[in-house]
Amino acid sequence: MTLSATQKIPSYSEIPDHIAIIMDGNGRWAKQKHLPRIFGHKKGVDTLENVINFCLDEQIKYLTVFAFSTENWRRPIEEVNFLMELFLSLVQAKVTLYHKNNICLRVIGNRNNLSKTLREHIEKAEKLTEKNTAMTFTLALDYGGKWDILQAVNKLFAAEKKEITEADLAANLMLSDIPDPDLYIRTGGEKRISNFMLWQMAYAEFYFTDVLWPDFAREEFDKALNSFKKRERRYGRTSEQLPIEQQRK
Ligand code: IPE
Ligand code: IPE
Ligand code: MG
Repeated sequence: MTLSATQKIPSYSEIPDHIAIIMDGNGRWAKQKHLPRIFGHKKGVDTLENVINFCLDEQIKYLTVFAFSTENWRRPIEEVNFLMELFLSLVQAKVTLYHKNNICLRVIGNRNNLSKTLREHIEKAEKLTEKNTAMTFTLALDYGGKWDILQAVNKLFAAEKKEITEADLAANLMLSDIPDPDLYIRTGGEKRISNFMLWQMAYAEFYFTDVLWPDFAREEFDKALNSFKKRERRYGRTSEQLPIEQQRK
């Protein structure tokens, strides 16, 4: 039996090709320090810069971070506005540094509700960095896993597809051209997916930590990678069916 198309090329590597991160806990970090929530988001940007560097060090090819969910519009308007300013600074000012580091920046999500300025800077940043090869860093902004599946289905409808296969759907998702995440990391203690890449998580490994995102340091990142190294990825097979070098237990 062949593996399904959505699994793309199954990976057995000890190092994840693609890491997806749900960066959670900024608000609680600020609260612990008796600061307004936005201070947590500010500090969270510093953490993100560090994590990008850890990934470059470890030669991780793809990093995708959840920055703003389709549900985060429900937050107080002041917080939403502050976050949008932070995203603008990422795609406007920080992009020079990404470019210098040979990072390709991509943004996934619904752009219709973003400001015109933010949209234009996203397009500029993507264009500037599109040929870079060290790592693809994707920012999920106004992104939802359900939204992603629906936009794929709607594209197929528009193409007048009568019957949709797994391969058709997978080919129309936002990150269809890169491997699905091997490892999902969620900081901040919650053990849920909160509508992050849903289809793509079919065979992902999960790592949950109580550490709040602004405190997520190199040591914590290494713990996640070490945990991943011990996972035996079977994709439905038995352990004994795997080549000896892929057996972990
Ligand atoms: C994650 O931190 C950042 C975003 C969702 C934008 P939170 O703001 O959710 O922090 P907590 O979960 O309230 O601590
Ligand atoms: C998930 O965090 C979204 C991002 C990290 C951008 P939330 O803080 O919004 O998740 P819930 O609401 O606690 O599930
Ligand atoms: Mg949260």
